[in-house]
Amino acid sequence: MAILKNLDPSKFGSIVPAREAAFSAAPANPLPEIYPVNAIAKQLHPEKQYLKVVKVQPMGPMFVVYELAPDPERGTEKLAWFKAGSCICIYLDIDGYKTSRTYTLTSSPGKAANGIYRLIIMRFPDGKCSNWIVDNWKVGTEVVASEPLGKMNYNPIRDGKTVICLAGSINAFLSMAGAVAEGIDDYNLIIIYEAESTKFLLMKEELDALAAACDKIKVVYTLTAEDKEGFEKGGITADLIRRVAPEGSWSVFYSGPPPFSMKAKAVISELGIEPKWARNELNGELHNAEFFPTWPGKHQMKVPDTVNITVKIRDKVQTVSGSSRDTILQILEANGVAAPSKCRSGECSYCHSKLNKGEVYCPEPWEMRKEADFKYGYIHPCCTFALEDIEIEIPYFQY
Ligand code: FES
Repeated sequence: MAILKNLDPSKFGSIVPAREAAFSAAPANPLPEIYPVNAIAKQLHPEKQYLKVVKVQPMGPMFVVYELAPDPERGTEKLAWFKAGSCICIYLDIDGYKTSRTYTLTSSPGKAANGIYRLIIMRFPDGKCSNWIVDNWKVGTEVVASEPLGKMNYNPIRDGKTVICLAGSINAFLSMAGAVAEGIDDYNLIIIYEAESTKFLLMKEELDALAAACDKIKVVYTLTAEDKEGFEKGGITADLIRRVAPEGSWSVFYSGPPPFSMKAKAVISELGIEPKWARNELNGELHNAEFFPTWPGKHQMKVPDTVNITVKIRDKVQTVSGSSRDTILQILEANGVAAPSKCRSGECSYCHSKLNKGEVYCPEPWEMRKEADFKYGYIHPCCTFALEDIEIEIPYFQY
C-alpha cells in the first residue's frame, strides 16, 4: 500500500511516447515465421517422420535388419533425436487396412544424428504386421513413423551409476550399449542376455565388439536349454544378478516377450528392488482378452462374442462391430475408422478417449491411467477391451 502511495502518477504520461520512440528506433525486420525454439521442438517431436528403407539385411529365416533414412522429398530433412532404449511407431497400410505397430530402435542415437534408424523385425507364426513388413519392405520403400517414444531410457538423476539389463530381447540394449560406447551416455552397463541356445543370441558379434571396445559395457550370456563353456546356464535368476551386480545401488531395466517380462518382474521382486530402480520396455500389442486370467468374461460376467462400438469423432457418429476379444482400437481399425495410436501399450496417452457408455476392461500391466481418467471416464482404446456395447469419443486422426 505504501508503495502505491509513493507512485508518481505523472510518470505514466510518458509511457506512450517512450514506447512510440522505441518502436520507431527498432529495425523494420519482419518477425520470424518460425521461432528457433519452435523449430527445435518440431525437430525433436515431429507429428510424423517420412522415411525410406535404405538397407535390408536378412538374418536367418526369422529376422530382418532394416535401416531407414529421412526422406526430404516428403518433408523429413532430419531424423528426430532419441534417447537410447526408445521405439518408433510405424504406420501401415496393408491393402487398405490401416494400422500401426511399435518397434524398438536398435541403433544408437549417434547413428540417428548421421541419418540412420535401425530396426530388427521378426517374423511371427501368426503375425500380421511384422510378417507383412518382412514380405514387402525393400530398399526404396516409403515408411511413415511417429516421433521416438518410450520410457526405458537412462536418466542420471533417477538411475544408478550402473544399469543391469535383463534381456529376453536385445534390441533396446543394443542401442543403449551403442550410446555408452559412443560416449553419449555415461554409466556402466551390465547386460544379462538370456536365450534358449547360442543360435538365438541375436547380434552377439556386435555386442561382443561393443564390450571389447568399451570397459563400461559387460555382457553375460545365459542359456536355458544348452550347456556350453563360457556361458551361464539356466537363464536369469536372482542369484546370477547378485553375482554380477556391483556394490551399492544400481538400476535394472528389462525387455522381452510377456513370459520373460513376468519372470523378470518376479526376479526383481525376489531381490527386493524398489520400483523406482526398475524400468521396462513398452508392454506391446495386446491380442486376445481371454489370455488374461482377470478378464471378466472368465468370472463375474457374460461377455458377448461381438460388441458394437458407437464412436464419435468431432461431429461424425458411426457404429461399428467386432470381436470382444480384440481391443477397441483393433475393432476401429478393422472397420476403417482412423483412430490415433503410437505406443499401443497404454503408456503414451496418444489414443486417450472419452468413454460415454459401457463396461470395459484393461489388464495389468497395460493399465496406466491416472486417477483423473477414472474420475472423468477416459480410456486408452489401444489396450482396452469392450465387455458390452459401448459409446466413445475419440480424437480426430489422419494416417
Ligand atoms: S497409443 Fe499410447 S496409450 Fe494408446
